[in-house]
Amino acid sequence: MPMATSLKFILTIISLLTVPTVSTASADVDLLLNRIKPSIAGKSENLLLNSWNTSVPLCQWRGLKWIFSNGTPLTCTDISSPQWSNLSLSKDPTLHLLSLQLPSANLSGTLPQELGEFSSLQSLYLSVNFISGQIPLEIGYGSSLSDIDLGNNLLTGSLPASVWNLCERLVSIRVHGNLLSGSVPEPALPNVTCSNLLYFDFGQNKFSGGFPKFISDLKSLRLIDLSSNNFSGEIPNEITRLNLEKLNLSYNNFSGVLPNFDRSKLAAESFEGNENLCGPPPLRGCKRGSGGLSSGGVAGILIGLMTGTVVVASLLIGYSQRKKKNLDDEEFDDGEEDENDGCGGGGGDEGKLILFEGGEHLTLEDVLNATGQVMEKTSYGTIYKAKLADGGTIALRLFRDGSCTDGGLWLPAIKQLGRVRHESLVPLRGFYQGKRGEKLLIYDYLPNKTLHELLHEPRPGKPVLNWARRHKIALAIAKGLAHLHSNTEAPITHGNVRSRNVLVDDFFVARLTDFGLYKLMIPSVADEILAAAKADGCKAPELQKMKHCNSRTDVYAFGILLLEILLGKKPGKTGTRDGFVDLPAVVKVAVLEETTMEVFDVEVLKGIRSPMEDGVVQALKLAMGCCAPVASVRPSMEEVVKQLEENRPRNRSALYSPAEPRSGIDTPF
Ligand SMILES: *[C@@H]1O[C@H](CO)[C@@H](O)[C@H](O)[C@H]1NC(C)=O
Ligand SMILES: *[C@@H]1O[C@H](CO)[C@@H](O)[C@H](O)[C@H]1NC(C)=O
Ligand SMILES: *[C@@H]1O[C@H](CO)[C@@H](O)[C@H](O)[C@H]1NC(C)=O
Ligand SMILES: *[C@@H]1O[C@H](CO)[C@@H](O)[C@H](O)[C@H]1NC(C)=O
Ligand SMILES: *[C@@H]1O[C@H](CO)[C@@H](O)[C@H](O)[C@H]1NC(C)=O
Ligand SMILES: *[C@@H]1O[C@H](CO)[C@@H](O)[C@H](O)[C@H]1NC(C)=O
Ligand SMILES: *[C@@H]1O[C@H](CO)[C@@H](O)[C@H](O)[C@H]1NC(C)=O
Repeated sequence: MPMATSLKFILTIISLLTVPTVSTASADVDLLLNRIKPSIAGKSENLLLNSWNTSVPLCQWRGLKWIFSNGTPLTCTDISSPQWSNLSLSKDPTLHLLSLQLPSANLSGTLPQELGEFSSLQSLYLSVNFISGQIPLEIGYGSSLSDIDLGNNLLTGSLPASVWNLCERLVSIRVHGNLLSGSVPEPALPNVTCSNLLYFDFGQNKFSGGFPKFISDLKSLRLIDLSSNNFSGEIPNEITRLNLEKLNLSYNNFSGVLPNFDRSKLAAESFEGNENLCGPPPLRGCKRGSGGLSSGGVAGILIGLMTGTVVVASLLIGYSQRKKKNLDDEEFDDGEEDENDGCGGGGGDEGKLILFEGGEHLTLEDVLNATGQVMEKTSYGTIYKAKLADGGTIALRLFRDGSCTDGGLWLPAIKQLGRVRHESLVPLRGFYQGKRGEKLLIYDYLPNKTLHELLHEPRPGKPVLNWARRHKIALAIAKGLAHLHSNTEAPITHGNVRSRNVLVDDFFVARLTDFGLYKLMIPSVADEILAAAKADGCKAPELQKMKHCNSRTDVYAFGILLLEILLGKKPGKTGTRDGFVDLPAVVKVAVLEETTMEVFDVEVLKGIRSPMEDGVVQALKLAMGCCAPVASVRPSMEEVVKQLEENRPRNRSALYSPAEPRSGIDTPF
């Protein structure tokens, strides 16, 4: 085994040669003096670095902190202490470098690879210098490094992937303002979490490539700055799962749709300067199929408008003089402040606009420059039709002063409502809170009639409401409610299902509005809705407080609505004294008297061949089931949808043509 022998021999020689000699200096001091100092100083003299000299007491070396092997830090703060002038300290082998902090020190050299050799070095702060060259990959060998700030230097090349060796210890990594290029390296190991990492600042470099997806797994992150680089591609949705305090992706080349960030927390400037990115202002809007709001603004219906019938809202001339930037700040102000505001509370200095999908083009400026016209007044507020400067029209619901709950509950609720999208639900496009706490909900304006008007307000030119059309309307409402009840985030109760809250267009496409609003109101105001529902005969018998409303009470109200559609009769209080139309009771009496067919509205039966085969009778049964006095036996809205779909009118030829007025050719449909 000659090989083994010689190897053993060589090892012996080596160990003899390297018998530990008595160390005359701390290994870290050696490194600093012989490697670090000459490298980072650059060519010229550096006054700060001149202090690193064994003829100067260690405590007086600039920009350094030390720690003894036993974990005790060396305290150099007290000039009168013996340590301050102890010249032997630099020879103490038990001293280790803890931090190297020389920001703005006129350093003009390069980073030496020996930076990775300090066993106890935790903080490396060399920002705002003129350090050039590459970041040595050995930096990833620093066994204790947790804070790295190399910002505002002249560093070039790519970031070595080895920095992710530091992942689990790393608290901050900042390389802002250099000339670093290439893509952000991926950690070598999958599923790293860097569980202590708070700050990830790569802004103002020349990084390129896609969004570094792995950072959306770094759950502890509070700040991400990738601004002013050359990143491209889409921003992954996963990033919204992070609980970020600051995110800056501006001035890159990101594209696609901006993920749904909590915009009350993140500034609008976080995303600007990405030409191919669409989203809320100041980004360009995303193309959408649905009839979102046209570009322009939200009409300004504000304080003082609550009483007027027709209002020209140029009240707020002051606003238009404010700087655009200011306005953007307000729009996406952090939500905290707001959440503490009561409904009528002071609010911020100015208004605040939160936009939802399809409302991206609205600006605060336009909110304050439009004309509004009262469409309807309810116990809790007023609905305006508002004209935008660009000619578009929107619907605004202004809440009565003091009618809504405090902001802490309000904001999450409004955001949930803002995310609801369904073809049978009128989408909420935005929410505005004025400086005095006034609150506006912004909807598409649909120039439609309410189902209530269609059913009960005879008018020349009113379209025929045959069974096919009524069925279509009922099915749409049922689908809208089923969608709310099965909302994945958290089920939403409509709370105010009634024919006045159903909008119907010329093609008998029906949409429910005002869903979930009771959640935004203080209990006493919410209970006014309940009182109105009771008067209108659509309150479920078991429901005593609005806060207890649920999907079953919605089903009850839907049952009444379906009876209203079938019977063509207005439920609830009639104009006459003590008069009250109890639709379920009307049906029961008719069934007992065997006059069931007579309860239907004449228009319903007109032209249908068989009330059984066309699903009219089934619909009546279904409505009665929904109105069961015992909540638990009522069907779910999903079941209602199913039954209505199974029992469709056979002749639906007139369904998809626009409404022809009653005065037109008298066809059966
Ligand atoms: C250290 O300081 C002494 C006296 O201040 C000076 O003579 C010497 O050149 C310095 N050594 C180095 C390496 O700068
Ligand atoms: C100076 O430092 C050395 C090395 O740590 C230590 O042994 C010595 O006690 C210190 N002298 C004083 C006066 O503190
Ligand atoms: C900074 O360094 C440059 C050379 O790199 C030198 O000319 C200049 O005087 C230094 N400034 C200060 C304030 O030390
Ligand atoms: C990483 O995470 C994914 C998804 O969570 C998992 O499927 C995979 O097994 C993980 N890989 C490792 C090496 O843990
Ligand atoms: C994002 O970074 C850019 C420059 O990189 C800066 O101008 C802008 O103010 C930053 N935005 C935020 C919200 O911090
Ligand atoms: C940015 O990246 C693209 C490729 O994605 C490249 O074509 C372009 O030259 C880069 N621009 C700069 C300024 O580096
Ligand atoms: C931005 O990215 C697109 C591809 O998404 C590319 O065509 C374009 O050149 C890029 N622009 C710049 C300035 O890098």
